[in-house]
Amino acid sequence: MAPDRFGALWRSLEPIGRGTDGYHRFSWTYPDLACREWFAEEAADRGMSVETDGNGNLWAWLGDPALGDAVVTGSHFDSVPGGGGYDGALGIVSAFLALDVLADHGARPRRPIGVVAFAEEEGARFGVACLGSRLLTGALDPVRAAALTDRDGVNLPEAMKSGGVEPSLLGPDPQRLHRIGTFVELHIEQGRALSVPVGVASAIWPHGRWRLDLTGTGNHAGTTGMAHRHDPMLTFAYAVLAANKEARLHDALATIGRVSVEPGATNVIPSSVTAWLDARAPEQSTVDGLVTAITNRVTERAQRDGTTASVTPESVSPVTEFDTALRDRISGLLGGAPVLATGAGHDAGVLAAHVPTAMLFVRNPTGVSHAPDEYATDTDCAAGVDALAAVLEELACR
Ligand code: GLV
Ligand code: MN
Ligand code: MN
Repeated sequence: MAPDRFGALWRSLEPIGRGTDGYHRFSWTYPDLACREWFAEEAADRGMSVETDGNGNLWAWLGDPALGDAVVTGSHFDSVPGGGGYDGALGIVSAFLALDVLADHGARPRRPIGVVAFAEEEGARFGVACLGSRLLTGALDPVRAAALTDRDGVNLPEAMKSGGVEPSLLGPDPQRLHRIGTFVELHIEQGRALSVPVGVASAIWPHGRWRLDLTGTGNHAGTTGMAHRHDPMLTFAYAVLAANKEARLHDALATIGRVSVEPGATNVIPSSVTAWLDARAPEQSTVDGLVTAITNRVTERAQRDGTTASVTPESVSPVTEFDTALRDRISGLLGGAPVLATGAGHDAGVLAAHVPTAMLFVRNPTGVSHAPDEYATDTDCAAGVDALAAVLEELACR
C-alpha cells in the first residue's frame, strides 16, 4: 500500500482525543464515542455490518459471522492518560485498510472477516486491563466488573449506558467467541525491539497491577513532632524505592506510576496513600517473587512507620505463548519476519487462551510508547497493512 494512502485514513482518526499533552481516549467518554462513530462509518463504507456486544466491544463484519470460523482482526481505541496515538488505533486503521488491499486484489473470502475494537484495553478508566476482551471470554466476573468505578465514582454500567450500551448484558459471550476461528492483532511495537518494518509476536510476558493501600494518621504539619507521626507518605516513598531495587535484583520491571494522597494538603500529614504497582518479567515465578519481595519490604517498613500496608491484585495476566504453528506460518508468509516477545499486554493475550491467535508488530523507531511521542512512519505502517492483508488473505481466502 502506498504510504500516503495509509496516511489519508490515519489522519482522519488522528485528531480525536488528542490534546497538547497526548491522547486522552478513555472508554465511554466523548473521544471514545467519536472513535466508535468513525469505526461505524468506515465499516459502512466497506459494506460491513456493525454491532456492539453486551460488553461494549465493537464489531464490523464482512460476510455472515453466524457461519463461524471467522478471521477477526482489530485492537482498541482507548489510550492511557497522555498516551500516544498508535497504541491500539493502528491495529484498527490497518484492519480496514487491509480489507481495501484484499478488495484491490479481487480476493474472495471463504470465511467471514471481522474487525473488532475492544473496550477499555488500557484499564485507564476502570483499572482492569483488557476489560472488554476479559468479559467476552469469561476471564473477568461481570459482577466484579459492574462494581468498578472510575476516579469520579462513575461505575462501569453507568458509563456504558451513557455510551448507549445496555449494561445488563455484561459477561461471557461464548456464542460470539466461538464464531472466531483465528484472531490477529496488529500493534505498534512498544520498545525498540524491531529493526525491520514488521515482526511477529512469540509471547507476552506475565504481568499485572497491584494496589497498595497505606494508612496512617492525619495530623497537623506544624504541631506534630517528627517522632510522633504515623505518615503513610514515608511508607509510600519507601515502596517506590523498594520496587525499583527489587526489580533490578530480579531482572524484572516494576513501576509505580499512579498515586493518590488523602487528604492531599500541604500542611496536613496524610492519613492514607493509595498507589498502584505494575510488575512484569519474562517468567511467572519472577513476577511472583518480585511482588512478594516488594510486599515484604513495604510491610516491614509500615511497622517502622506505625502505618498499615496491604497489597491487592487488581488486574493480573499470566504468560501468553502464541500459537507456534500460526506464528511460524505467518513469519514464513512474510518472508521470515522476526519473531519477538513483548512485555506489553494486549487483548490478543486474552483471546489466545481460547482461539488460535497471532500478533503483528510495526516498527517503533524511537521506542517511545504510552507517551505523546509514540510514532511509526507512514511507510512502516503501510508495510504493516500489506502484511496484515497477506495474513488475512492466507487465513480467510484459501
Ligand atoms: C498495555 O498497554 C499494557 O501493557 O499496559
Ligand atoms: Mn497500551
Ligand atoms: Mn495496545
